[in-house]
This record gives sequence, C-alpha cells and structure tokens, in this order.
Amino acid sequence: MRERLVVGNWKMNPPTIADAVSLARAVARAHHGAVSVAVAPPFVAIPAVADALAGSDIAVYAQDVHWEERGAYTSQIAASMLRGLAVGSIVGHSEVRRDLGDDDGRVAKKVLRALAADLRVVLCVGESEDEFEHDETDAVLERQVRAVVRSVGSSQGRLIIAYEPIWAIGTGRPATAEHAAKAAAKIRNVLRDEGLAAEDIRVLYGGSVSSITVGDFAGARGIDGALVGGASLKADEFAAIVHAFG
Ligand code: 13P
Repeated sequence: MRERLVVGNWKMNPPTIADAVSLARAVARAHHGAVSVAVAPPFVAIPAVADALAGSDIAVYAQDVHWEERGAYTSQIAASMLRGLAVGSIVGHSEVRRDLGDDDGRVAKKVLRALAADLRVVLCVGESEDEFEHDETDAVLERQVRAVVRSVGSSQGRLIIAYEPIWAIGTGRPATAEHAAKAAAKIRNVLRDEGLAAEDIRVLYGGSVSSITVGDFAGARGIDGALVGGASLKADEFAAIVHAFG
C-alpha cells in the first residue's frame, strides 16, 4: 500500500519569512490526519519554516537542488546544505525547466545528487499544451522519466513522481481524472520497464488542484496525492485538499 502524500509548493511565496512562518504554523494547526503532508518554501525561508514545524507531522522540502556538491555555482544550493532542514526536494519543475534552462540531463543529475544526499525527491514531469493537443503526452513522459530513473537503483524508495501537465499549472483548468490516471499508468510502465518497483513508487498529480477539484484526483486510479501550488498558500484550502486524500 502506497502512503498518500500532499506537498504544498509555495513557489516564490509568501512575501516575507515571517509570512512563511505564519503559513507553516497555520498548516500545522489545520492538519489532523493520516495523510503525509509536506511544504516546500523558498530557500531563504526553509530554516525558519523548519524551526516552526519542528515536532509537527509536516515535512519540509526544498524546491530545487544543484547537481554539484560544491564550487563556483553562483546562486545555487547544494543538496548537502539542506541537511537537518529539509527531508527532500522538488526537482525538474516545469517552471525551473522553463526559467533556468533545466533539461532532462540536468534534471537527471540533480535527482541523483539529491538521492545521494539521502533526500527524498519529487520529480516533476508533464507535457506542454502543444504536446497535449498533439497527443504526445505518453512520448513526453516516456522521455522525461526514462532520462532520470535509469541510475536511481536502490534509492527508489525515496523517489516520488509528480505528473504536472504544464497547461494545467496555475490556469484553473486541471486535467481530467482520466487523463491523470492514464499518465500515472504510463509513468509506472516506464518505471517497470527500467527495472524499478513501480507499484511502490508514489505518483502525485499537480496542476490547479483546489478544494473543489481535488475529489477527482483523490479517486483517480494510480494517483497517490497531489503537488499543490496556489491553493497551498491558504492553510484551510490546503487542509481541505489533504483531507480529501485521507
Ligand atoms: P497550481 O496548483 O498553482 O496550479 O500549481 C501547481 C504546481 O506547479 C505545483 O508544483
């Protein structure tokens, strides 16, 4: 049985570290349940949020890590720097692929580095609107997942995959539960084909998940939770999403 997981990706929010601490406290207060919950604040807020959540059931994730451990990489954060602060990191988010030039090769290196540092990884994959309209979802997932999982090996217990169709992110237009379930099945086919224990690896859905839309995904075959953007910035709304997966 795969444990369900809901992760709030705060992206470049909220405006101050004090606001991040308040949000973290509100998330912890609103959480009473069996579902695993995590939040991914911006790097600068991670220490304060980790402190605020110490002793709670809410885990802290980073939003990215670099593929090297040390060196001349201005602005970047190494996986080892998260030790004691975060249990995992999101890697390969489409916004990082879009804005910071991550490609499958870099994403693969980042995933391996994070796993080697004993972090959990939420690997984000998903097709663009154009690829969706041209019925290329399976081909994109095949490429993105295969590029990364080949060398994951014995760390697979710490790998989580988030299916996030780019056209559904922040648009208020989520994928259908049927499309998400098909994508999860495709992802697991590729994992199986690469020799991984696909039935043990969690697949989350992300893209305009809210308290209104979450019911579809909570009931979708093969979907084990959600990666939530905008709706994770309101503690009550986030709690309602978590509750739906409980
Ligand atoms: P929204 O929930 O705001 O659509 O964002 C999804 C996302 O990108 C989570 O990583």
